Amino acid sequence: MTTGLSIRHYTGADAAVLRPLLLDVYAEVYAAELDSPFTRVERFAEGLDSWSARPGWSCVTGVSGDGQIVGYAYGAPLPPGSRWWGGLLTDVPKETVTENGTRTYALSELMVRTPWRKTGAARQLHDALLSARAEDRATLLVDQGHPRVTALYESWGWTVLGDLRPRLPDAPLFHAMLKPLIPNTSA
Ligand SMILES: CC(C)(COP(=O)(O)OP(=O)(O)OC[C@H]1O[C@@H](n2cnc3c(N)ncnc32)[C@H](O)[C@@H]1OP(=O)(O)O)[C@@H](O)C(=O)NCCC(=O)NCCS
Repeated sequence: MTTGLSIRHYTGADAAVLRPLLLDVYAEVYAAELDSPFTRVERFAEGLDSWSARPGWSCVTGVSGDGQIVGYAYGAPLPPGSRWWGGLLTDVPKETVTENGTRTYALSELMVRTPWRKTGAARQLHDALLSARAEDRATLLVDQGHPRVTALYESWGWTVLGDLRPRLPDAPLFHAMLKPLIPNTSA
């Protein structure tokens, strides 16, 4: 039940104003993991700043009928030669991971505050973010220690391309996932 959930769209021009809100929600959603090097708030903040400075960055937030932030999602297109695929451990044809700047939108983050889990809010944020995009496909990474999340994305039309470990200190092993995007013809 997501009646009353209001979806708001943002771009990189809004990032500085949005930043404190996004960090607060992150700290709440990931409260149990903030001691881990890969998930501490400072690291997330660095990632947020880097992602939100990318050309084409977009973000959606969900706001409940009584004005509470429910969650958010954001991402950006992969540039030519993107490092995104650098940690891919599964052999795939080179063409599969060749980027041109308009081919693939990387969904970097999706998170929903606990009271709004299993309400459809996550799906609504996901769909709102992706339906506004013009790229051919989307990609995301799911920690392989979270198989229920992989299953959730599969139920939303994503497929696992292979194993990927980002070339970053302390990075876990991820499933790299792909989803075709349907062009928005209503514009
Ligand atoms: C992922 C998320 C947006 C999905 O919201 P939702 O559609 O309402 O679905 P749920 O919260 O029920 O999650 C689906 C399943 O994944 C599990 N799950 C969700 N996040 C998880 C996490 N970070 N670690 C381990 N399991 C997780 C849930 O426990 C649930 O399992 P269940 O079906 O056995 O109950 C939400 O769970 C969330 O914000 N999680 C924390 C942030 C996160 O992990 N984001 C995904 C990054 S790829």
